[in-house]
Amino acid sequence: MRFDQPATTNPIDQGRVVGKPTPRIDGPLKTAGAAPYAYEHHELTPKPAIGYVVCAGIAKGRVAAMDLRAARAAPGVITIVTSRTAGKLGKGKMNTARLLGGPQVDHYHQALAVVVAETFEQARAAAALVDIRYETAAGRFDLAAQKPRAPLAKSGGATGQAETKVGDFGAAFAKAPVQLDATYTTPDHGHAMMEPHATLAAWNGRKLTVWTSNQMIDWTVGDLALTLGIPKSDVRMVSPYVGGGFGGKLFLRADVLLAALGAKAAGRPVKLALPRPLMFNNTTHRPATIQRIRFGADKDGRLTAISHEGWSGDLPGGGPETSVNQTRLLYAAEHRYTANRLAVLDLPEGNAMRAPGEAPGMMALEIAMDEMAEKLGLDPIAFRLRNDTMVDPEKPQRPFTQRRLADCFQLGAERFGWSKRNAKPAQVRDGRWLVGQGVAAAFRNNMLMKSKARVRVEADGRVAVETDMTDIGTGSYTIIAQTAAEVLGLPLEQVVVRLGDSAFPVSCGSGGQWGGNNACAGVYAACMKLRGLIAQQAGIAAHAAEFTGGEVRGGGKAQPLARFAGLVAEDGIEYGDIDKRAQQSTFGAHFVEVGVDAFTGEIRVRRMLAVCAAGRILNPIAARSQVIGAMTMGVGAALMEELQVDKRRGFFVNHDLAGYEVPVHADIPHQDVVFLDEADPSSSPMKAKGVGELGICGVGAAVANAIYNATGVRVRDYPITLEKLL
Ligand code: MOS
Repeated sequence: MRFDQPATTNPIDQGRVVGKPTPRIDGPLKTAGAAPYAYEHHELTPKPAIGYVVCAGIAKGRVAAMDLRAARAAPGVITIVTSRTAGKLGKGKMNTARLLGGPQVDHYHQALAVVVAETFEQARAAAALVDIRYETAAGRFDLAAQKPRAPLAKSGGATGQAETKVGDFGAAFAKAPVQLDATYTTPDHGHAMMEPHATLAAWNGRKLTVWTSNQMIDWTVGDLALTLGIPKSDVRMVSPYVGGGFGGKLFLRADVLLAALGAKAAGRPVKLALPRPLMFNNTTHRPATIQRIRFGADKDGRLTAISHEGWSGDLPGGGPETSVNQTRLLYAAEHRYTANRLAVLDLPEGNAMRAPGEAPGMMALEIAMDEMAEKLGLDPIAFRLRNDTMVDPEKPQRPFTQRRLADCFQLGAERFGWSKRNAKPAQVRDGRWLVGQGVAAAFRNNMLMKSKARVRVEADGRVAVETDMTDIGTGSYTIIAQTAAEVLGLPLEQVVVRLGDSAFPVSCGSGGQWGGNNACAGVYAACMKLRGLIAQQAGIAAHAAEFTGGEVRGGGKAQPLARFAGLVAEDGIEYGDIDKRAQQSTFGAHFVEVGVDAFTGEIRVRRMLAVCAAGRILNPIAARSQVIGAMTMGVGAALMEELQVDKRRGFFVNHDLAGYEVPVHADIPHQDVVFLDEADPSSSPMKAKGVGELGICGVGAAVANAIYNATGVRVRDYPITLEKLL
């Protein structure tokens, strides 16, 4: 189904199932331990051997010698694979780092070997006996020292333009009566998802099957085939349940490749997990950023000049953290300049994590907006609304399909009690706590991705949906079941959803908050096709067929769907240029109240509210869970999360969950989420948009602004740890 024009009224609008608060259908499986993760597949014969990864102990240089004799002789060892024995490997399109290093070492904890043994303990013990002599080379590990002047050379693709210029920023800024020029930093972040990267690989002749934990099945199958130099059709990937991804499982990683190589060398299935302490340096992370923001405004608080420059680093050939991109779209101003700049660093690979670009970008931009409002003597909400725009500020002929930022702020202000806030910092005391409130806009784009599905009427009248879409804890199973139930007029229990298998039609996958809208739109298309087939077989004109109560009605007859068992339809959604004509984004407002201990500087979040405008909300409780999780991640970014870089040796020092702190439920006593009631016909027939990542974009700045309101201390370097307040 091609989607070129805004959607008209369609079966989704009935709202019998879609839009209803629906508990996750995979919930009972998850809580009963019946939703196995990749490492929990045990049923293969022959019994899988276990792989353990040997990772580089230097950040840059080469392996001068690798002595495997002791490891080979260790109990239970079956085989050891290194770059010398792996055969020629290609490289996938999506990953920057080589997933099996040697002799050259490109980053700390790059995999250099996999030891395969009968048991985990044997593999780990033998891995410790691999004796590697390195020649260390000098590396570049300090972003501030490597900060380039020029925008990155590469542009286009997912990163968008490297640099944008509208009007004459320099001149407009110079003559603006009110100016801000401030620099903000965000540190490197680790995904720290619950389920580690893990894979079970089994070869059957030339055919390879991998059970793994992955967000984007089709990308990863393609990259695995490219890396191994085998046809894509020889690879099957299965990833039905994923214990969190956060962007860290968008791509092929070392666990998949090494399990496949190990299984080939061992001549039997191999199972391999990356131990937590290897994950932070072996896989990807969100790169640190340095962001300079300049605003010029007239005395009434109208922005005349906006500039946002962002610096980040990555391995050679990598990409930037696009921290300036939202600034191209969020506020009006006639004169504008933005640039993403990329330094070459020899740290582990930087890549997508939890709303890449906007998450760290909004952390800086929305503090800057707070600072500027104060300079202007304006309420921070009033200042933002004064600079609201209904068109793309860089391309004024391009409207937003929908933009209810102002409604989000107004509703949020009422709900949160914003009018009672004391605008002057460090005025409100509650015992030993200094209390403050902060606000920030939320903004994230809505991306359109093609997505396919297959639907089949089963013998008992249930309908099975198959697509390689993944459920990374987001609720994909449930919203897909809701979509099929709505279109085919079935109760939810009559829909069976099968996901995460490359044997199924290629979906949009899970990433960039595009999963919900696009995957369901693909299922919608397949279900509409099935309706056509059923109507035809039932002898009813397609427009006269009514699907309800598990029956198709029309022509004076009501026929149960079971009568059409065996009918199969495969279709998907494919987009024309609808999103080129108008900008599709999602909006919100974050409100946060903090307490700061007047004596110790300890910061506690007391309550949070997010108001979101993100198209039709397919399942309010799933969406609420997404946004609450995202708000919690925002608190992590604001107050705790930081990968500490050892700038001499080039690695992340705190590479486990003891040293890399993330917030838990108990850290935030009160979180509230409100969704505006809207449907965006330009997004797809679902009229839905992404919402998960919207919840993280801006919330860190709302925390920072609340801390400033509580204490009068303006911190521009995240995370805001207590020593920065003293
Ligand atoms: Mo998201 S960082 O695109 O999984």
